[in-house]
Amino acid sequence: MNTLLAVRDLTLGFYGAQILRGVDFNIRGGTITGLIGPNGAGKSTLFNAISGLYGPNGGKVTLGGDDVTGLKPHLLVRRGLVRTFQLARGFPKLSVFQHLMLYGLDQPGEMLAAALFSSSAARKREQELSEKALETARRLRLGHVIDNPVTALSGGQKKLVEIGRALMADPKIILLDEPMAGVNPSLADEIAEHLVALNGDGITICLIEHDMALIKRLCDPVVVLAEGKTLMEGTFDEVASDAEVQEAYLGTRR
Ligand SMILES: Nc1ncnc2c1ncn2[C@@H]1O[C@H](COP(=O)(O)OP(=O)(O)O)[C@@H](O)[C@H]1O
Ligand SMILES: [Mg+2]
Repeated sequence: MNTLLAVRDLTLGFYGAQILRGVDFNIRGGTITGLIGPNGAGKSTLFNAISGLYGPNGGKVTLGGDDVTGLKPHLLVRRGLVRTFQLARGFPKLSVFQHLMLYGLDQPGEMLAAALFSSSAARKREQELSEKALETARRLRLGHVIDNPVTALSGGQKKLVEIGRALMADPKIILLDEPMAGVNPSLADEIAEHLVALNGDGITICLIEHDMALIKRLCDPVVVLAEGKTLMEGTFDEVASDAEVQEAYLGTRR
């Protein structure tokens, strides 16, 4: 089975509190894999540990068979793994276009090279990036707000910019942390359609989401995390009907 991302016995603690206590799962290439679990289960922390924001204390992460455990985020981005944040982040004064350009330029030395040699090659690269930023904005239906500051956007549009930022890196796999949370239902639906389309273009997705109707509609398989450990993996129906999963959600394990 074509495993793109493999997580083995991953552990991570803060100040003596063990948050990830041995997480194990695989993401097959081409899937939209759901990652669910009660609040505080460690889902966002797991994304932080996989994407290189925090170095894990133990265990292993492989991407396309290569050991990438603890690699810094920009190195993982170059290997095709990007993540989005639960709360959209950004630079208040920059426009949507500038945000997309900035993240497209996330290659060490690229800005410096462009500054030192304002060569035709550097101009060509900037032109390419600019076209890609426009295309990405259009694709996410942000074309009409492309010159607006990100702070002027709705919550849902900010989530779309966050997805656009990830797309600028030409990812193989995107880890999405609640991209529809706090968004009105029609925009949540639109975001869901974007995810299906991106997946159709060959991008593998790992999705953290609380709305079980969205998980059921979008994700196969679904991985359940509880108290820092993988509890089970299966189709949505298998997972939803599992007694241990129901118990974890009700919090009776504590
Ligand atoms: N940077 C941090 N420092 C200390 N504790 C943290 C940090 N990040 C997360 N935690 C703790 O880790 C646990 C899991 O949090 P989180 O990964 O955000 O859960 P989830 O995304 O599943 O709701 C929580 O108890 C949280 O307080
Ligand atoms: Mg979270």
